[in-house]
Amino acid sequence: MENLENKVILITGGGTGIGKATASAFIANGAKVVITGRRQSVLEEATQKLGPQAYAIVGDVSKDGEPARIIEETIRKFGRLDVLVNNAGTGKMGPLSETSDQDIESIYRTNVFGPLAFAREATPHLANSKGAIINISSVVARGMMPGAAVYASSKAAVDHATRLIAAELGPMGIRVNAVAPGLTDTEITADVKSNEQMLGMIIAQTPMGRIGEPEDIANAVLLLADNRAGWITGQSVQAGGGFLL
Ligand SMILES: NC(=O)c1ccc[n+]([C@@H]2O[C@H](COP(=O)([O-])OP(=O)(O)OC[C@H]3O[C@@H](n4cnc5c(N)ncnc54)[C@H](OP(=O)(O)O)[C@@H]3O)[C@@H](O)[C@H]2O)c1
Repeated sequence: MENLENKVILITGGGTGIGKATASAFIANGAKVVITGRRQSVLEEATQKLGPQAYAIVGDVSKDGEPARIIEETIRKFGRLDVLVNNAGTGKMGPLSETSDQDIESIYRTNVFGPLAFAREATPHLANSKGAIINISSVVARGMMPGAAVYASSKAAVDHATRLIAAELGPMGIRVNAVAPGLTDTEITADVKSNEQMLGMIIAQTPMGRIGEPEDIANAVLLLADNRAGWITGQSVQAGGGFLL
């Protein structure tokens, strides 16, 4: 891994799960990391664990104007931005017939509006640093998962936006990729993990024979952020031990 000293990384939803593990991995390689989320107490606890290279900004990625404010505060604090990790995400599984308008709006606002608005606001700063965007998608963006119509289609939008934004920002020297995790042991998957039958079915269909740890996904993000991935753009890389290939 290249030395990331003096690099500044912004990770939305960086106070828990995959985002927090990714923050920790970037910090271990010398970077300064801004983490965001809606819950101040969660971010405070995370920054205490992550140490002085971590800085927290409370904010809701699904709200108009918040991406711009968070990018502005990042630049005011550190003067630059090298990598944007669009990680904040939400999902609610269930049949479409039991899904409310508010559920659909909240999932699309968080998972699609957020990453698009953050990418737009980050563009001038990433053009200065010849930086990168990494969106967190999901293996269900391509695979078949009953009850996941809203969540999976929002992640499919993330994958396609990754390709199109890569085409748009490539001429500025900015790379744009996605990491698509399989089932990973975090807060968001509590329901699936407590359903033994479902968990067993997923592990049985995962060639590597286990579910993922947040660190597995963090490692994939760091690979794509590295300069040695400098010729890779517009890709969504599955990090799911082979689940839903
Ligand atoms: N775990 C898996 O199996 C899995 C699989 C595929 C993809 N993913 C994706 O991985 C990403 C990270 O999820 P995770 O598994 O690490 O779960 P997680 O621990 O629940 O992380 C989600 C994070 O996003 C933040 N967040 C949610 N809505 C937000 C909003 N409107 N504004 C700002 N922050 C918001 C949450 O903080 P607050 O609640 O404090 O705002 C939380 O820190 C998500 O995009 C998820 O869809 C996860």
